[in-house]
Amino acid sequence: MLDLVEAVAARREASDPDAATVLRGLSAPQKSLPSHLFYDARGSALFEEITRLEEYYPTRVETAILDEAAPQIAGRTPQGAVLVEYGSGSSRKTEILLERLPQLAAYAPIDVSRSALEEAKARLARRFPSLRVEPTLGDFAAPLRLPADLAIRPRLGFFPGSTIGNFTTPEARDLLGRMAAGLGAGARLVIGADLLKDPSILIPAYDDAQGVTAAFNLNMLERINREFDADFDRSRFRHEARFNEAEGRVEMHLVSLRTQRVAVLGRMFSFTAGETIHTENSAKYSMRGFHRLAASAGWTPKRTWIDRAGLFSVHELAAEVQDFAAGGRVER
Ligand code: SAH
Ligand code: AVI
Repeated sequence: MLDLVEAVAARREASDPDAATVLRGLSAPQKSLPSHLFYDARGSALFEEITRLEEYYPTRVETAILDEAAPQIAGRTPQGAVLVEYGSGSSRKTEILLERLPQLAAYAPIDVSRSALEEAKARLARRFPSLRVEPTLGDFAAPLRLPADLAIRPRLGFFPGSTIGNFTTPEARDLLGRMAAGLGAGARLVIGADLLKDPSILIPAYDDAQGVTAAFNLNMLERINREFDADFDRSRFRHEARFNEAEGRVEMHLVSLRTQRVAVLGRMFSFTAGETIHTENSAKYSMRGFHRLAASAGWTPKRTWIDRAGLFSVHELAAEVQDFAAGGRVER
């Protein structure tokens, strides 16, 4: 019987990358779960609630920056371009660009959340009836796949929300490099990056008074129960947001309230009281630090917009072009 359970787990682990990541994450000395698993239908709805919280300044501030920057971004976008968005969620910020970009051939949002993609597509169809929308359900790190007639068109990438901060520096470099490869030489990427600031502002943004972020974090356990045959009891964990000073990032953890054992895909995992599952990183950048990261992945910073209070930054980056005159070397 045990052997059968183990065989089923091993098979799932071999065929489902998320299952392998979950089992590996829970087996490590510091337990972790991947943050993209937050975004089932309930998680995407809770994230939208977070974006409306007083404490969660990033959405409000980035939206205001985009309102100002949109005309300049639009002015540099070629006729017939495709707008490719990574982790598009509700596509609400995208509307600011879409209003200014009647020249687009299509909008191609990529997201792991089916519900977010479907809701955004329906809303955009009402608001921009002549816009062609080509959504992709899946990982934005995968090679970019566009319909054949769009594949030859110039591309503008859009990666708002400081979602880049959910990746460690090496992961972020790798992801930005993949985006450069997918968007192509000469392409532009408009990307949001949250700025380093005092923990007295950062912590409430990730631990709000109403407990919406706590519900967002704890919802991950319900998803693991449903999709990975687990028996987490969410009342035995609590949400915690921490500022990791050395890494310059906010971390979200789920803290075990007692000694307990949890089954996931037929395997048992033990928790001591106070032990945590690390569920998210949210890196905070200096302007120079972000430019360095972008450059290390083949992107040249062209413009940076920052709000007056210095809370959030939006960058327009250009993918370096091959300089054939210089023997095909990459321009620096
Ligand atoms: N761009 C929106 C949403 C940010 S929330 C905004 O700025 O408000 C992060 C979004 O990225 C979610 O919709 C989530 O489903 C998506 N996401 C997270 N990891 C992803 C991945 N690896 N591939 C594709 N989408 C991802
Ligand atoms: C989408 N992502 C960049 C958000 C962030 O700020 O790291 C997700 C989030 N997590 C907690 N609150 C919001």
